[in-house]
Amino acid sequence: MQVGIDMGLATGGSSATLDIEELLATRLLVQGNSGSGKSHLLRRLLEQSAQWVQQVIIDPEGDFVTLSDKFGHVVVDGERTEAELAGIANRIRQHRVSCVLTLEGLDVEQQMRAAAAFLNGMFDADREFWYPVLVVVDEAQMFAPSVAGDVSEDARKMSLGAMTNLMCRGRKRGLAGVIATQRLAKLAKNVAAEASNFLMGRTFLDIDMARAADLLGMDRRQAEMFRDLKRGNFVALGPALSRRPLPIQIGTVETSARSSSPKLMPLPDAPQDVEDLIFTPDPEEFQRPIVRRTPPAPRPTTDILAELSRSAPAATSVQPEARVPQPELPAEEREARVAAVLTEILDDPGSAFRTDSVLYQEFLVRLRMRRVPGSPMPLGEFRRRVAIVRSGVDAETAATEAWAAALALSSGVSDDLQGVFLMLAKAAVCGEPCPSDARIARAYGTHSARRARRLLGYFEEQGIVVVHTDFSGKRIVAFPDMNSQTAPGDANGPDGGDTREAAE
Ligand SMILES: Nc1ncnc2c1ncn2[C@@H]1O[C@H](COP(=O)(O)OP(=O)(O)OP(=O)(O)O)[C@@H](O)[C@H]1O
Ligand SMILES: [Mg+2]
Repeated sequence: MQVGIDMGLATGGSSATLDIEELLATRLLVQGNSGSGKSHLLRRLLEQSAQWVQQVIIDPEGDFVTLSDKFGHVVVDGERTEAELAGIANRIRQHRVSCVLTLEGLDVEQQMRAAAAFLNGMFDADREFWYPVLVVVDEAQMFAPSVAGDVSEDARKMSLGAMTNLMCRGRKRGLAGVIATQRLAKLAKNVAAEASNFLMGRTFLDIDMARAADLLGMDRRQAEMFRDLKRGNFVALGPALSRRPLPIQIGTVETSARSSSPKLMPLPDAPQDVEDLIFTPDPEEFQRPIVRRTPPAPRPTTDILAELSRSAPAATSVQPEARVPQPELPAEEREARVAAVLTEILDDPGSAFRTDSVLYQEFLVRLRMRRVPGSPMPLGEFRRRVAIVRSGVDAETAATEAWAAALALSSGVSDDLQGVFLMLAKAAVCGEPCPSDARIARAYGTHSARRARRLLGYFEEQGIVVVHTDFSGKRIVAFPDMNSQTAPGDANGPDGGDTREAAE
């Protein structure tokens, strides 16, 4: 079914239409400096398409909650645990209800975590609920930043991963990303690159203009036109909009933003006693406690999960006596089952690019499925075990003193770097060739060779390793504290299944 919604006026006076079905397959990126009219544009798009397609809006400012009165969007407050948000997101897909996730009042890191949990919840919905949804993300540079900022690496990874899923892998699952950003240069490139439709508004900075020109396939001089665009005017391009860059003026909207541009207002006449007014305290001032909105304590989702899996859930229909009793297992038997579950998860090739907390959830579920009794290991211990399994160490090497030294040394390395560290240490202990950048990158859960090199640089700065090359230019990583080093390996080699293959 082809549905063209009316976005406003195109040059020449015809109406500018946006093909919704095409948009679902090809996504949209909106860019324009503050005040250029992006949020207004998104609102026009949402209002015009509300009757045709389910919508989800990730709304950092709480601007879009006003859609609920006229169009029935459910407003979801982001101040919830990640598990709650994921559950709501899942049900939003099941019941095909439009909603606004408002993140107003949360600090940036909480906003990122909440948006990620929600997006992942939608992404992970069961196949039978993969109906089309427009997923609109305003201020997308906040959720998919191009560089690390002040927020924790964990929050950044989580949010960037969710946005990447939405834009790169969402289409099959019915998720169509519509993202808006003030600054293209601040938005992660891989996220921006997945949109095939563009609406470019007023842009001042050269760096943003250059990025816009690249994305649109225009030359830089042509892109100068973005500088002079007026508020509410955008250049449209893409399969759902127009085959050639088409200037359009966005039409009016029916609902209003809660926040709008500041308007100049005449100042009131200055009262005579202005100093008195300002400096005379209100007697209550000294009694009233200063209330600031404190951020909620960090949400220990994984703790909750561990907790949940400790006590097997009591299904209401099952009488207590009918529940299957869980016999105590001898420690060795239990350990063998735990190890088997771990290996099973890590043998899945997709697991390399999953976050530890996702793997941990999977681990807890499988332990329950296998009825492994006793409390599961905490997340920190789990990460360590994962790192050890991934390092590929065999039983014989694991029993050596050198490996014990490697493990001792690894305890000084932060959780997320354990995998890479132990893989390198194993190559050194076994005298194998130094793993390639690609192999190191995979152990870190990324595809970026540059990141791999930065990691090595980081270990070197910490004084844990010394990186050098042999005369043919092959890389060697030495561990002074372990008194061992890898054999020379090709840094640019492929990401082989194991370190030996990678370096040949
Ligand atoms: N096409 C338009 N017609 C009429 N008013 C508009 C139009 N576009 C934007 N405006 C008005 O201009 C003001 C700024 O627009 P908007 O909030 O959409 O900007 P923005 O690009 O989202 O800015 P920011 O990046 O700071 O959020 C708003 O008050 C909005 O109502
Ligand atoms: Mg805005």
